[in-house]
Amino acid sequence: MKFLKPILAILAGYVAIKFGIPYVGSLVHPGTWPVVPTSVLKMYMAFVTLGIVMAYTFDEEGYAGLIGPIEDIYSNPSKAIVRYVVVLLVGTFGAYITYEYVKPTFDAPIELRSVHPAPPSNAKMWGKTYQIQTIQNPYREDKENFAKNLEEGGIVYYKNCFFCHGDRMLGRGHYAVGFNPRPANFVDVGTIAQLTESFVFWRIGTGGPGLPSEGTPWLSAMPVWHNLISEEEAWKVILFLYDYTGHSPRVTTKVEH
Ligand code: HEC
Repeated sequence: MKFLKPILAILAGYVAIKFGIPYVGSLVHPGTWPVVPTSVLKMYMAFVTLGIVMAYTFDEEGYAGLIGPIEDIYSNPSKAIVRYVVVLLVGTFGAYITYEYVKPTFDAPIELRSVHPAPPSNAKMWGKTYQIQTIQNPYREDKENFAKNLEEGGIVYYKNCFFCHGDRMLGRGHYAVGFNPRPANFVDVGTIAQLTESFVFWRIGTGGPGLPSEGTPWLSAMPVWHNLISEEEAWKVILFLYDYTGHSPRVTTKVEH
């Protein structure tokens, strides 16, 4: 049977790549058994198959030998059952491959982390120790100078933050693409909209390095701002973040019993 030879040749190719290459590797480095990556195996097998098909269909006779049986299965009336089986198998195989590609995986993400970890009870910033739970934005209730403070906050933002957080606060500043995690998108309801001003103040003051261990492993590029801007500027930029995005800071209210 002429059909058998090329199939055996392809099988031999598979065995040579799958086991032959690791075997040679084990001779070079005794005690090891290197693995051929599946992607490489697939690529080599594609070459092997192509090469064998080319070699066997080089002349008319070889071509007929390889194509003949296939034509026979698909056109010979007496092979109807074989035909149905082949069509079914090919179809099932295609369906299986497709399923393998699209099926959802439930693997845990490579890095588990908490985006908004609980802040420490106190933090050192601007040379002082703050009780994070109790601090409040001193400019929030200053209605008289609100417009002026807001404007100053805007200046702080465009001088310091917009390179990363973007001119529309969508987290798409010029440098944003270079960072993983990306700079926070303040317009998104998942960031400042669900945070208290004291939490935002702590995040600005201590930046990426200030994140507690449940916020890591995380190489946050968020700078430690208490080294770079004043405490007043930090509170003012917070006014600006909420005003620009239209969000209100989360407030903690005491429930009377
Ligand atoms: C070098 C780029 C960069 C600059 C400049 C920068 N940030 Fe960030 N910022 C980040 C990244 C990255 C994150 C996301 C990771 C994280 O939360 O630490 C972030 C997160 C934050 C968060 C936390 C949001 C949340 O949902 O927890 C706040 C608040 C914030 N930035 C405010 C600011 C302010 C205000 C400025 C300007 C004074 C600023 N950032 C400047 C990169 C930057």
